[in-house]
Amino acid sequence: NLLAAQNSGMVKIVFATGNKGKLREAAEILGEGFELLCPADLGIFEDIEETGDTLTENSIIKAKYIYEKTGLNCFADDTGLEVDALDGAPGVHSARYAVEVALRNGDTGLASRADHDFSANINALLSELAKKPGADRKARFRSVVTLIWNGEMHFFEGSFEGRIAESRSGTNGFGYDPVFVPDDCPDKTVAELPESFKNEHSHRAKALKEMAAWLSEAQASAQI
Ligand code: IMP
Repeated sequence: NLLAAQNSGMVKIVFATGNKGKLREAAEILGEGFELLCPADLGIFEDIEETGDTLTENSIIKAKYIYEKTGLNCFADDTGLEVDALDGAPGVHSARYAVEVALRNGDTGLASRADHDFSANINALLSELAKKPGADRKARFRSVVTLIWNGEMHFFEGSFEGRIAESRSGTNGFGYDPVFVPDDCPDKTVAELPESFKNEHSHRAKALKEMAAWLSEAQASAQI
């Protein structure tokens, strides 16, 4: 695989995600040296169930699923939003926070809704924080990337510090971006900032840049 990638001058790799926002970011962050495929390009459309208790476990589950189906070099990320005033929630449960909060409140109506309902998740987050007036709204995204390269696993991490806004603003990005105000630009949400800002500073940008640096070293040492 490494040889094939070297011959074409491109690193061919599958990003195990169905999230178009993540794919667009990864293509931008990794740049031209990569031929980035997604599961749909390989005829894989099913949702991969994230049953792990940690970001690392979930990113392993997603990367392994694609590797076992395709045998191709691949990577996956799992991301969580940790809010200090909520003792680190939603954390590893960020994709289905609305369902979790609804069930905790005895409301089974939401339980059948799909994970990754961005709008419902933001509503749940704002309403949980509204129960704690005056609380510190400090938060961070954390990403763990699992790379499976020539059958071996490697891990890369990144975090992005900020705080949770009182209400939504902006339309860029996805997920919790409309309520996340980064410390690097403390008067705007990520959804109000240009994509280039997120791709420079974000949790996933940091982890993917580390992965790209590792891959270029691996290629360089394979050429010696
Ligand atoms: P997962 O890594 O796709 O499982 O992400 C968990 C949850 O966090 C999902 O609801 C995502 O929409 C959200 N999420 C992941 N990455 C980001 C991001 O970069 N910005 C905002 N929300 C995100």
